[in-house]
Amino acid sequence: MGKKNRKVGLWMYQNGGGDTIEKKLVNKLKERDIECVTGLNLNEAYAENNHIYCNGIQMDTLDLFFSYNAGEQTQYQMYLYKTLDKVVPCINNFESFALTEDKFQTDFLLRQNGVNTTDFCLCHRDDHKLLKQFIKQWEQIVYKPVDSWGGVGLTKINSEMVLDTLFPFLDQLDMRFFYGENYVDYDKTDYRIDIVDGEYIGCYGRKAPSKDWRTNITSGGSIFLREPEEEVVDLALAAAKITGLEVAGVDIIYDRKKKAFLVLEVNGIPAFARPEQEEMGLDFNEKKIDKLVELIDRRSSGFMR
Ligand SMILES: Nc1ncnc2c1ncn2[C@@H]1O[C@H](COP(=O)(O)OP(=O)(O)O)[C@@H](O)[C@H]1O
Ligand SMILES: [Mg+2]
Repeated sequence: MGKKNRKVGLWMYQNGGGDTIEKKLVNKLKERDIECVTGLNLNEAYAENNHIYCNGIQMDTLDLFFSYNAGEQTQYQMYLYKTLDKVVPCINNFESFALTEDKFQTDFLLRQNGVNTTDFCLCHRDDHKLLKQFIKQWEQIVYKPVDSWGGVGLTKINSEMVLDTLFPFLDQLDMRFFYGENYVDYDKTDYRIDIVDGEYIGCYGRKAPSKDWRTNITSGGSIFLREPEEEVVDLALAAAKITGLEVAGVDIIYDRKKKAFLVLEVNGIPAFARPEQEEMGLDFNEKKIDKLVELIDRRSSGFMR
């Protein structure tokens, strides 16, 4: 089917069983006559005239680039990713990936399209009057850096007094704006729904530790097996579709006050189940790999997206 001698570039995380997943991906693509080049870290790439080179590979001649390395992307990486995406099909596509790296941009687009998210506000950091209005209205605000991950930098502001004591610090911080969310009354558990190519792949739950309100593993959260309600899956599918991510991990919580499910976050590089999680019974890896292989095969064959 399609083009001959296809070559696909991969940049995949190696920890937590990522190396094993990558090997499976490479083998399954090989069965479809698609050659893989791994370890293409854009941080180590450079451009010369009409080419982008990495480890001796001309990346602009690849049939597809799969970028799947979690953690912070440098500005340099993002810049080259943006460039490469213009000439080579990238998964995730750059535009959607960049969108979901920003919580405000993502939530705004989701809400515009009628998808339930936490209530949020964005204002100039000097707009103390407005922030006071929001804390009156919501009682508790979660301050969030729009581009953070792992629960880092999230601060719960639970009274006007706390807000008052924060203002002098806000003025000192080098930030352009204040992004805040209504603190949701929820049971300290969430759903993580994995989506590939518009299809539901799997679900698990995360639970915050007793002393924290954040479910992130880095905040001490733990993973548990969880079957999602149909409503949760539909919400995740809608969120993935609106962001345009080919591969998405959608975090969802249940708002006890509003009695509704909300999208908390859309992740562009949701991790595969780690070996110890697979042992626990998280069994979506094979399905996720197969769906990815299908998607990469289709997108690298020169047909339209
Ligand atoms: N508005 C909120 N109300 C209640 N809990 C929240 C809210 N926002 C985030 N949290 C908790 O904090 C965790 C981290 O927030 P999230 O927006 O996913 O940022 P990160 O990118 O750092 O994971 C969530 O998994 C959730 O447990
Ligand atoms: Mg999160």
